[in-house]
Amino acid sequence: MSDLLVLGIETSCDETSAAVLHGAHDLRAHVILSQDLHAVYGGVVPELAARAHLQVVDDVVGRALDDAGCMLAELDGIGVTAGPGLIGALLVGVCWAKAAAYASGVPIVGVHHMEAHLFAPHIEDAAAEPPFVALLVSGGHTLLLHATAWGEYQLLGRTRDDAAGEAFDKVARLLGLPYPGGAPLEALATEGDPGRYSFPRPLLASSGKKSAATEALDFSFSGLKTAVATQVAELEANGGLDAERAHVAASFQAAVNDVLATRAAQAVERTGTDRILVAGGVSANSALRRELRRRHPPEVDLFHATPRLSVDNGAMVARTAAFRLGLGESSDLDLSADASLPFPGLRK
Ligand code: KG4
Ligand code: ZN
Repeated sequence: MSDLLVLGIETSCDETSAAVLHGAHDLRAHVILSQDLHAVYGGVVPELAARAHLQVVDDVVGRALDDAGCMLAELDGIGVTAGPGLIGALLVGVCWAKAAAYASGVPIVGVHHMEAHLFAPHIEDAAAEPPFVALLVSGGHTLLLHATAWGEYQLLGRTRDDAAGEAFDKVARLLGLPYPGGAPLEALATEGDPGRYSFPRPLLASSGKKSAATEALDFSFSGLKTAVATQVAELEANGGLDAERAHVAASFQAAVNDVLATRAAQAVERTGTDRILVAGGVSANSALRRELRRRHPPEVDLFHATPRLSVDNGAMVARTAAFRLGLGESSDLDLSADASLPFPGLRK
């Protein structure tokens, strides 16, 4: 890859982030501002998220450019998350980027948020490139892909209801943990017994077997969440919840990670690829990464980003924009945010 200097802007949900990346791996500046105002509501409030982005976007991007010691006009491109995500939140980043591109004459590239998660590990590890099986697990999406090359993806499975991160957040809430709940739930689970409760592993029994070679390796987490809710209600009714919270957390986490790791293993078997990449906020879960490692021999490569690049961030947007610019692609100034932007290059 050439050594383009690219600004990446991310505002699709509740992180306002900007980064300046030189080439594929030289991260010259990276600012991530998380909106903690949503914690009190137990979830992201879209209108508040958009307003909060609007208040800080100028300063966040300005700080990234300052840290990198560069001016807008020196950039080779401006990448911005154009979707999927919260429409009001996305629009803040897209409008900022379009204004900056117009003023500076620098090309703009609309980036798909989930493709950006796919690129995140490659910033830190040059070996994290296709072909690989990708498990993309975030708060809004759960996707299993076979990436044969950058930009060429075969869909192997997706969630039929809740995303994996959403399940973590909902169960964390049931257990009285703050939002977003993934990291606090993981911390609580370290004190619990993952075998105490046997929660369901939805869809695993019915599909993905060798005989069903073409069946989708889909996911479903809403039934698991309901099973946990029923268990929590029962424990609450008999006054035993406090003593059991860590065990419930550990048992739930074991169920989710079992489903995710099983699907990844089935994808490896089906595609014949011995490389697995896990990305998105839930990939910060170290128990998930251990489970993926445990199921595969050392010859199978396992790629993931460090926690800062696993959650939503501008660096992954810059990295993806650099790839698109390298192909000669850019967006017009009528680029618009699209809450359900299709995944580029994804074959079903
Ligand atoms: O990718 P991301 O930052 O934002 C979206 O694109 O949605 O993912 C956020 C999700 C949240 O649901 C959060 O609870 C989850 O990632 N998450 C985790 C962990 N850290 C963040 N889930 C499980 N374990 C973690 N350590
Ligand atoms: Zn994300």
